[in-house]
Amino acid sequence: MNRLSRRTFVLGGAAVAGVVVAPLQSASAAVPFPFQLGVASGEPDASSVVLWTRLAPSPLNADGQGGMANADVAVDWQVSTTSSFASLVASGTVTAKYAAAHSVHVVAGGLQPDAEYYYRFRAQGHISPVGRTRTAPALSTVGRDFVMAFASCAHYESGYYTAYRRMADDRPDLILHLGDYIYEDAATAGSLRQHVGSEIVTLADYRRRYAQYKSDPDLQAAHAIAPWLVVPDDHEVENNYANMVRADSSPALTTAQWTARRTAAYQAYYENMPLRPANINSGNSIALYRRVRWGQLAVFHMLDTRQFRNDQACGDGWKVCSDADLASRSLPGTAQESWLLDGLGQHLGQWDIIGQQVFFARQYDASGASNMDAWDGYRASRARIQQGWVDRGVRNPLVLTGDVHASWANNLKADYANANSATIGTELVCTSITSGGNGTADTAIPNAGTNPHLKFYSNRRGYVRTKITQAQVTADFRGVSTVTEHGAAASTLKSFAILDGRPGLQAI
Ligand SMILES: [Fe+2]
Repeated sequence: MNRLSRRTFVLGGAAVAGVVVAPLQSASAAVPFPFQLGVASGEPDASSVVLWTRLAPSPLNADGQGGMANADVAVDWQVSTTSSFASLVASGTVTAKYAAAHSVHVVAGGLQPDAEYYYRFRAQGHISPVGRTRTAPALSTVGRDFVMAFASCAHYESGYYTAYRRMADDRPDLILHLGDYIYEDAATAGSLRQHVGSEIVTLADYRRRYAQYKSDPDLQAAHAIAPWLVVPDDHEVENNYANMVRADSSPALTTAQWTARRTAAYQAYYENMPLRPANINSGNSIALYRRVRWGQLAVFHMLDTRQFRNDQACGDGWKVCSDADLASRSLPGTAQESWLLDGLGQHLGQWDIIGQQVFFARQYDASGASNMDAWDGYRASRARIQQGWVDRGVRNPLVLTGDVHASWANNLKADYANANSATIGTELVCTSITSGGNGTADTAIPNAGTNPHLKFYSNRRGYVRTKITQAQVTADFRGVSTVTEHGAAASTLKSFAILDGRPGLQAI
């Protein structure tokens, strides 16, 4: 429901003794609906969750301010155990600042563990859509049945966000987004639906691009159904960029202009994602790698493999490249690599789930070439992490990946050159939401001959749905037959189980 009456909102608040939400200002038909970008939540722990919205009555305005005037605006928020908001468990008022493109990040606290909640906002006399969210289980408990879905790569021009809609239909408990939430490129003539504007460079550009993406009702449905954990990849800034090094030279930018662009990109990322205030951008970077715990059941190590990486070896691309073996090279960067290994050694959950961006398992083609943008371009770094979890006795390492616009399921090997070596972990790779267009029915595993640890491939668009219990993780690779027409159904293309204490894929 897009609009509840203001009266309903006030009465909902007044129904709880002592809790009255005072009207901020009179509803006015002259004030346009400011919640065109929907609502979102994220970063749940056992007692709190981040609630997000951004006021933008005219999302596509070129100044990136979404049609808002140069003034700060008060925004009321409410949390209830029911979608009717008959009683409130938390509420308050925050300021949507012009300087933050009128985004708000509310940390709603004092919540019960492992519990479902509903939330909404009010501003300028209008009520927002209602979002559903939930908290994580208490750290001492395993919690209820847990469904987690993950996705990546949603190029707006490539198709409709049907896969986001189908994720929402599943009503998962948690959604992970592993990057390429937006794309930076200019409008493409003749595409199904077009980006507004040229390649995005300025803060106004990035803000407007997020606003365009977030105007999509299918994406809004996926945000409104569950809390998200997000990490960006390259396209939130620019294709295949590495740390402070660009991968292309168009548009031409001075070093200072590139630095300003990266700064703008991460400011807009924070403004538009349901991140905790601790993750706010600072200078030209943003502090994003973090752990999120799900009771005793799981811990999510969310990685950032863009901001701190060494430049791609041998000039990027698919290459035979001995430099990719250099011990000095790291994909997460030295500090994040140490942080990850330290966290893996703490055994914070039964399943150690690494949410990250790029292809983790080795994949060599018949000539021995591999993708220098992925972990194959940072082999010593991968080896340190894999051996690190073996040395630390990590019981159930599970790597989640996006980026490659196809579904894959891979066994991770102690020695990729020896098919008989131990399987020491598992990788699940989600396909794209839209990037690459409709895809095909192809399921022949590329480079299977040289990489027998790669066990599944599908070129459909979609997402991965997992059910996580103490006994096993079940992964359903979900696919849609088209993204160039609305309304395709999602079906399960393939399912695997990963058993507790036994790394690797089991066909089911
Ligand atoms: Fe992508």
